[in-house]
Amino acid sequence: MIESKSKASFDTVDGKVAIVTGASRGIGRAIAFMYGANGIKVVCAARSKEQGQAVADEICAEGGEAIFIQTDCSSAVQIKKLIDETVEHYGRLDGIVNNAGIGQGGTPLHEYGIEEYEQIFGLNSEGVFAGMKYGAEAILRSHSEGGFLINVASIAGIMPQRGQSLYTATKFGVIGMTKAAALDYAPHNITVNAICPGYTKTSIFGDAPEQAMAFFSQDCPAGRMGEPQECAYLALFLASGMARYITGAAIPVDGALSAGSKNVIQWKHPEILE
Ligand SMILES: NC(=O)c1ccc[n+]([C@@H]2O[C@H](COP(=O)([O-])OP(=O)(O)OC[C@H]3O[C@@H](n4cnc5c(N)ncnc54)[C@H](O)[C@@H]3O)[C@@H](O)[C@H]2O)c1
Repeated sequence: MIESKSKASFDTVDGKVAIVTGASRGIGRAIAFMYGANGIKVVCAARSKEQGQAVADEICAEGGEAIFIQTDCSSAVQIKKLIDETVEHYGRLDGIVNNAGIGQGGTPLHEYGIEEYEQIFGLNSEGVFAGMKYGAEAILRSHSEGGFLINVASIAGIMPQRGQSLYTATKFGVIGMTKAAALDYAPHNITVNAICPGYTKTSIFGDAPEQAMAFFSQDCPAGRMGEPQECAYLALFLASGMARYITGAAIPVDGALSAGSKNVIQWKHPEILE
């Protein structure tokens, strides 16, 4: 007979209240939908009222539960307000996904301006800190039985990227904060993890030329870019009761991009693929 403990289930997320920042597009949007479709009450935080409200409305139209709270995540004051309003609305908080982030790239370090440093650290680092700080406080006050902090970092936080000194620095910092905070909250039943996407098909690439997009697929050992949903599946698992012993981890979702350097190999028996 199969033991009931061996049957995987996401039912444990049902009724949890979670905030997703940067929920209007890309990976954040995919996580918000994944949470909404699986019984989590989602608070969609984004700057754009039109896009953020549309995501919340769509989750509700599909039978989920969601609200939108307009938030500039580079402002600690607005993040505190986001968390206060969430608790006011739902009476509790179980988790926060600090996803909002910007990319910057393509130049050597000396060509970045101080304003660019302040802009990227303001969102990717200070914004994540504020989300973790006020999020952890609210989760502790809620006496959540399955609290979670999830930070969307990057493979740039594992493997420095040429031309991306500032972005790399913010993401290394996020992974450091994730691991240190995991130690702080492990005794209090709050897991703290980082999702590290590789090249993922979102608007973060702006209007990068086709040639650059083709490079991303070729550079990845899996031979393709990732879909935002592939990060969202992990975010759902980390929010579930099945992941309570996973904390302090920085998990790549990257088709082996950060697993090591590519080298030349020759298959002795390529006919296995026929
Ligand atoms: N797409 C990738 O290849 C990739 C790779 C590694 C890491 N990431 C990380 O994933 C996260 C999401 O990025 P994405 O690829 O979905 O990009 P995206 O540009 O499609 O989405 C970013 C989201 O963050 C929001 N945002 C930006 N500034 C904000 C602010 N000040 N306040 C509130 N929201 C703000 C945007 O409105 C948007 O909803 C980022 O932290 C990014 O660094 C992405």
